[in-house]
Amino acid sequence: MNTLPPLSIWARNISPSPTLAVDAKAKSLQAAGEDVCSFAAGEPDFDTPEHIKEACITALRAGKTKYAPTPGIEPLRQAIVEQYAALYGLKATPAQVVVSPGGKFNCYLGVLAICSPGDEVIIPAPYWVSYPEMVKLAGAVPRFVLCDDRTGFKLTPAQLSAAITPKTKLLILNSPSNPTGAVYTRTELEALVAVAVQHNLYILSDEMYEHLIYDGAQPTCIATFSPEVEARTITIAGFSKTYAMTGWRIGTTVAPLPIAKAIAELQSQMSSNVTTFAQYGALAALKEKEKTKTALATMLTAFDRRRKHLHAELNKIPGVSCLLAQGAFYLFPNISSFGLKDLDFCNRLLETEKVAAVPGSAFGAEGYLRLSYATSDAVIAKGLERLARFCVSLKR
Ligand SMILES: Cc1ncc(COP(=O)(O)O)c(C=O)c1O
Repeated sequence: MNTLPPLSIWARNISPSPTLAVDAKAKSLQAAGEDVCSFAAGEPDFDTPEHIKEACITALRAGKTKYAPTPGIEPLRQAIVEQYAALYGLKATPAQVVVSPGGKFNCYLGVLAICSPGDEVIIPAPYWVSYPEMVKLAGAVPRFVLCDDRTGFKLTPAQLSAAITPKTKLLILNSPSNPTGAVYTRTELEALVAVAVQHNLYILSDEMYEHLIYDGAQPTCIATFSPEVEARTITIAGFSKTYAMTGWRIGTTVAPLPIAKAIAELQSQMSSNVTTFAQYGALAALKEKEKTKTALATMLTAFDRRRKHLHAELNKIPGVSCLLAQGAFYLFPNISSFGLKDLDFCNRLLETEKVAAVPGSAFGAEGYLRLSYATSDAVIAKGLERLARFCVSLKR
């Protein structure tokens, strides 16, 4: 048989998600009977609240099993608009909303709507693993700017200005951040956005973790800054993290009308609508406000307790230093003092102590670990004990 021609450059150049890979490895060790403490999962360890599930089941029974409008069912888009107005004072219409199969797809469609081959996209590192791959899949070029723990993992306006070239088209911002949990203040974001406006860039603002925020920090919706900012900003959020709905695959985009239309048209050819009856569950999350608020408060209380505990205990381990992040459900400790590549550190940690963590290099920042505390207090306690023992063994 003839040697077949190679697969496409898209297929050959894509890197699989390292976070999903570590999580899958931890789960397969668990399935084989190993007692693994996993800090790898990027999803709440809570179940979806009952009222959301019930609304979905009712919709399914009522025959909501057909295709829906590509950008989402009208009542859901209306409810999303109302929520943005109530929380941030954002004035948008349902026509500016696109509901997609997971926030990941919302981000990808946003990149596809803006970027052509050769365009440059500025991505502050540490970054969420999927941004560079999405940019590459659009034929565009990711330009990374390393923001380490000395600046709280935050991009500064000077760094941003220095990274802009005539080819720069898009800036990706993500606050609260995966993987660091860093939350930019409104003032910090205003300064960054001013640079983006000055250079006529689009902004993709990934606000997926907007509700998972602690210590009285406030989420910021960049699109509300001014009409000029709104006209160039694609706001991404979703149901996965806030409402423990990762498996439902429902994310949201709010964008200026021409961009929202382009995104909906791209989606119409790539996936059509989000599962119709699932959208009714999402609608209940927004409409049955009191029940949702209670469920969210329960999760936030647990996340906050674990965050503080994990942070305090990490900093007691000689050689480890960790900032106290104010958002999402991740901490990003610095382990560079051990003189090991973070990938080696993580592999050895998993092999010897059965603790799963994702290396910082997967997020574009060598010398760190991403630890998710969206796991039980018991796993955190046991995992910390093992991590401390491992770190002591490295120092011997
Ligand atoms: C920063 C960020 N954006 C977007 C997403 C996508 O979320 P999903 O596709 O699960 O809705 C994730 C998920 O890990 C994330 O961490």
